[in-house]
Amino acid sequence: MLAGKFVTLGITGSIAAYKTAGLASLLTKAGVDVHVVMTEAAQKFITSTTFQALTKNYVHTDMFVHLSDLKMPHIELAQKADLIVVAPATANVLGKVAHGLADDLLTTVVMAATCPVLLCPAMNVHMYQNPVTQANLARLKELNYHLLEPGTGYLACGGQGPGRFPEPEEVFERIIQLISPAGDFEGLAVLVTAGGTREPLDPVRFLSNRSSGKMGFALARLAASRGARVTIVAAPTNLSPPFGVKFIPVETALEMYQAVMDHFPQMDVVIKAAAVTDYRPARTSRQKIKKGEECLVLELEKNLDILLELGRRKQPRQVLVGFAAETENLVESALKKVEKKNLDLLVANDVTQPGAGFGTDTNIAKLIYRNGEVVDLPLMNKLDLAGRILDAVLLLRRQRLS
Ligand SMILES: Cc1cc2nc3c(=O)[nH]c(=O)nc-3n(C[C@H](O)[C@H](O)[C@H](O)COP(=O)(O)O)c2cc1C
Repeated sequence: MLAGKFVTLGITGSIAAYKTAGLASLLTKAGVDVHVVMTEAAQKFITSTTFQALTKNYVHTDMFVHLSDLKMPHIELAQKADLIVVAPATANVLGKVAHGLADDLLTTVVMAATCPVLLCPAMNVHMYQNPVTQANLARLKELNYHLLEPGTGYLACGGQGPGRFPEPEEVFERIIQLISPAGDFEGLAVLVTAGGTREPLDPVRFLSNRSSGKMGFALARLAASRGARVTIVAAPTNLSPPFGVKFIPVETALEMYQAVMDHFPQMDVVIKAAAVTDYRPARTSRQKIKKGEECLVLELEKNLDILLELGRRKQPRQVLVGFAAETENLVESALKKVEKKNLDLLVANDVTQPGAGFGTDTNIAKLIYRNGEVVDLPLMNKLDLAGRILDAVLLLRRQRLS
């Protein structure tokens, strides 16, 4: 989905320039063709070598001298781009863009743009609140530039307040929203579950699994960017909630069951990407379990099966998608699960394969339909897999409604 998209990434002279390395890495991993342009000031904060290594593309630092294949970078970096992003954008660059100045490569590229341009301001709170900066921002908005509001909090200059450059993941999300196919989930309510549930043994220990939540978060983020109203019920992860999504944090399988059942009747699509713990300790100790005997036996009891219950309650208009992580007899077990749980689609992966399953940024999955059809997908990043799953969901809905 993002593969083959061309993004020109401008970096300016802000202390936050180092964070753009994380952004360049996220974009490149997602298959985006990233072309970096650095201002002279930006190079005082971070070197072009970093971005060359991360993006595998030549990094542009000069309007007149370059070693790239492009004949006229100041035009081609604008015209080939699906999106131009300036992150971080200094007060200086905002002022220049707002007033049509083009005295270096980056500002000239922005001036030559016909694609959307996303500006991500980052600066000291007083610079940000200065009426000149605020007037420039208002003018840029009027001129249809996309602006990512800076965060509020501790700033590198020591101050507190607005001006902080957002985390790379947040900028990444806005970029996906701007370059994704728009609108085909408009009007649909989508519920996604994510992460691995935790079952407490005592106040400091729990049983869980290796799920990172990345697959569910990628689905939620992408469904939102394609126009859906998205709710995500998430067990603990290290990921920040996707932008524009209703976020319901839970811990145990029972809490997830409750949250999912509460929201299910209003949903058009439910995608259960969470790894729910099948068993929980029969008893949770109120005190920390002390080290004692050589052998400690834990008694476990079965958790409720959320997917099975959703399959029972499913209305004809609703599409239900499950996930299965298997280590053997993948297709056979998956087909049984589709039948037993009344699913419309099952995304099955063999977690023993390199590049598949928990914790990785990639996955190798099979899409298994109710009629027994099996679609083998190659190794791909989780965002692209999310795109394939959402395409399949739309097709199922259209078939259902026709
Ligand atoms: C340590 C340091 C940090 C700076 N951080 C910022 C910043 O976060 N935002 C900003 O607008 N300017 C910042 N500046 C000032 C810019 O680097 C300066 O205005 C420069 O001319 C910007 O050039 P450019 O917009 O062409 O990259 C900083 C300067 C220094 C010395």
